[in-house]
Amino acid sequence: MRLHTPVCDLLCCEHPIVLAGMGGVARSELVAAVSEAGGFGFLGMVREDPAFITSEIAAVRARTARPFGVNLIPAATKPDRLAAELAACIAGRIHAVTLFWDLSIETVKRLRGEGVLVVCQVGSLAEARAAEDAGADILIAQGLEAGGHVRGLSRLHALLAEVLAAVEAPVLAAGGVVDGEDLATVMKLGAQGAVIGTAFLATAESFAHDFHKRRIVEASARDTVHTQAFHINWPAGAYVRVLPNSVTRGERGDPFVGPRQVIGADGARSIYLFSTDSPLRSMSGDFEAMALYAGQGVDRLRNIVPAGERVRAIADQAAACLPAERRQAPGAAEDPELSSPVCYAGQADDTYMGYADAAELATELNVLLEAERAGARVAARLTADAADAELKVLAKGIHADEVRWCRALFDALGDLGAEPSTKVGDFYEKAMAIGGMEARLAFVNRGQGWVVRKLRALVPRIRDPALHAVLSEMLRAHEVNIASANAALERRLAPADPPPP
Ligand SMILES: Cc1cc2nc3c(=O)[nH]c(=O)nc-3n(C[C@H](O)[C@H](O)[C@H](O)COP(=O)(O)O)c2cc1C
Repeated sequence: MRLHTPVCDLLCCEHPIVLAGMGGVARSELVAAVSEAGGFGFLGMVREDPAFITSEIAAVRARTARPFGVNLIPAATKPDRLAAELAACIAGRIHAVTLFWDLSIETVKRLRGEGVLVVCQVGSLAEARAAEDAGADILIAQGLEAGGHVRGLSRLHALLAEVLAAVEAPVLAAGGVVDGEDLATVMKLGAQGAVIGTAFLATAESFAHDFHKRRIVEASARDTVHTQAFHINWPAGAYVRVLPNSVTRGERGDPFVGPRQVIGADGARSIYLFSTDSPLRSMSGDFEAMALYAGQGVDRLRNIVPAGERVRAIADQAAACLPAERRQAPGAAEDPELSSPVCYAGQADDTYMGYADAAELATELNVLLEAERAGARVAARLTADAADAELKVLAKGIHADEVRWCRALFDALGDLGAEPSTKVGDFYEKAMAIGGMEARLAFVNRGQGWVVRKLRALVPRIRDPALHAVLSEMLRAHEVNIASANAALERRLAPADPPPP
């Protein structure tokens, strides 16, 4: 089962199933349900009051201890409000922020500088390159099939192929993914997971109004429209994908001409005809004429279910599809012979020479993978919790390294034909039980020391030159990180200089 990919280690979740940060719809109840079930939830907080963002962050934490993120749209938000929203995310120690629409390099840098993981959703190759250059940690390739605002004009599979060939950052796929088969397909194409909107809108916990949920589960495949009609509240010239209604059929007049018309209310806020607001639980009014966002996978959604159930169903189905599809790969033998007789001779020689055999290597690499995954999670928490810049930068560096080695170990296990473990080492729980930043960092350093000792014992027993080189580099990187952390700890714990006489 290859469902757990390196992006899960970056996000600190079990399955590469990410809830899109749908404005209005993805609120605390839904985000907590998705993260709690092993996916990763983003709160859709476009243009929201910073006080509301803070209370939603607290509401998620009251429901789950698992990490989650926030979605913001810089281009659709006034600069002062955006600055306050960013401050709320940073103060709330948010693990990750997704950004969408026009790239704001300044926002990416601000978040990265605070140790927040930055995820950018893009709709073209040029945008993917620009986001990576700006420092995005993860990219989301959004295809034309997507529900809500649609950034580009390429279909998902074509865009994925282009982006994957050009960038180093992990890539998630968005647009029309609703079930495990869809997830397995995009993962076979090279995506590390999927970002899902419409399928999570049709869940018990989503904040969409029942009217919208019902329209989704009653829709058929040809039922979505790519239109510019819903434009108020958003930068000009933007397309959305919605279900057809009186607006898309032209029955409500020209969206760009005439006075604004109120068609509903959300508390004290008026909802205008042709605005980007979709019907929410808290609204009243003419829902039929509002933006009924939906992606092209809509015809395969027939039920409104609890979000956790949907996460588990997608994960189980994708896991069942992935190995089966691999076995059926063109030209692949059902039970390939693993080694020719000549190679068997080589293996016997390996054992005699003291080299680790494939089974032992797989066990050792998996032990290291679990330890690195635990280390990555502790470092992510340290980055979020650290109160001062020096510790934040240090922890962020350790996190990036631990994720890098998770990926290298994951790939090495794949090369060996072994199953990468999906477990997190119990080091994580132990580290989290320690109070105080310095004490936790010192504990991380002891964990890194354990990895160094393991690698020193293992590296001389590896015959394969490529794996030997990777693990040697991992060993050196750990030694460097230990030294930097020790130096920082010494500086922080050293008694202050006595005052001058
Ligand atoms: C109701 C709805 C609201 C959305 N709002 C946002 C948003 O506020 N910010 C954002 O980055 N993407 C938003 N999106 C787009 C998603 O990020 C994602 O690209 C899309 O949902 C993927 O396609 P799918 O709906 O077919 O799964 C929204 C999508 C939907 C369906």
